[in-house]
Amino acid sequence: MAGQLLDGKAIAKKVRAEVKQRAEAFFEAHGRKPGLHVVLVGEDPASQVYVRNKERAAGKAGLDGHVHRLPADTTQADLEALVAKLNADPAIDGILVQLPLPEQLEAQPVLDLIDPSKDVDGLTPMSAGLLMDGRPGLRPCTPSGCMRMLEETGVELEGKRALVVGRSLLVGKPVALMLLAKNATVTMAHSRTKELAARVAEADVVVAAVGRAELVKGEWVKEGAVVLDVGINRNEEGKLIGDVEFAAAKERASWITPVPGGVGPMTIAMLLANTVTAAERREAGKD
Ligand code: GUN
Repeated sequence: MAGQLLDGKAIAKKVRAEVKQRAEAFFEAHGRKPGLHVVLVGEDPASQVYVRNKERAAGKAGLDGHVHRLPADTTQADLEALVAKLNADPAIDGILVQLPLPEQLEAQPVLDLIDPSKDVDGLTPMSAGLLMDGRPGLRPCTPSGCMRMLEETGVELEGKRALVVGRSLLVGKPVALMLLAKNATVTMAHSRTKELAARVAEADVVVAAVGRAELVKGEWVKEGAVVLDVGINRNEEGKLIGDVEFAAAKERASWITPVPGGVGPMTIAMLLANTVTAAERREAGKD
């Protein structure tokens, strides 16, 4: 069976169109646009590109996107003071502190400060706790993008075996909990897992988010499995490749995401969706 491509660009476009409609309805109801504020510290080139894309996508979707660019030598106190100011501003619905931060800064105390009602990145301990408990809350964007892509395949997750490779706070752990919430039987694998081939071979759904180029071999993939590749690695020629051996995996999978153009484009779309959700909930909470 040769797998069908799960086209992240196309699904992200659909999500952005939905966000735009919701943002317009929000504007009609409340006389303001949902506000997304992104904090970028320093000059990390990849982060600069991501942040510019977030700002542009926010504007196009009818959100009020704003970037706070701080110098690389910003102090912990100054960064925390900015987050406190953004927390206090009622016109701001979403706050995202772009990671990684420069070396002298600690991320966790900054994330801990973000008002959970504005945590559109889903990385605060409150958001993580709500997810673990299966309660409504803001979920991290990349895992939300994975779940939306699975939804688009129409594949039923209940009772299926899902394997998550990777255990990061950003992707692995939250996506495992989100699959569990859909009644999948979830296994978490990681860089120290023994017999990874056997775990992959029994999985109906594989989410690879371990950050190791082509760690998951195509021949391991179960016939008909759905494969989501969150990895973004560069090979020796500088080409972007995922955590899955794509060409071989595609021959066995029913659905598979390419790299690039798979999960990647979904992240920003889900960030915009989270911002509108946060705005709607914050306004509803005022009643
Ligand atoms: N850097 C790379 N991905 C992300 C993300 O999803 N959120 C934040 N805050 N920083 C990132």
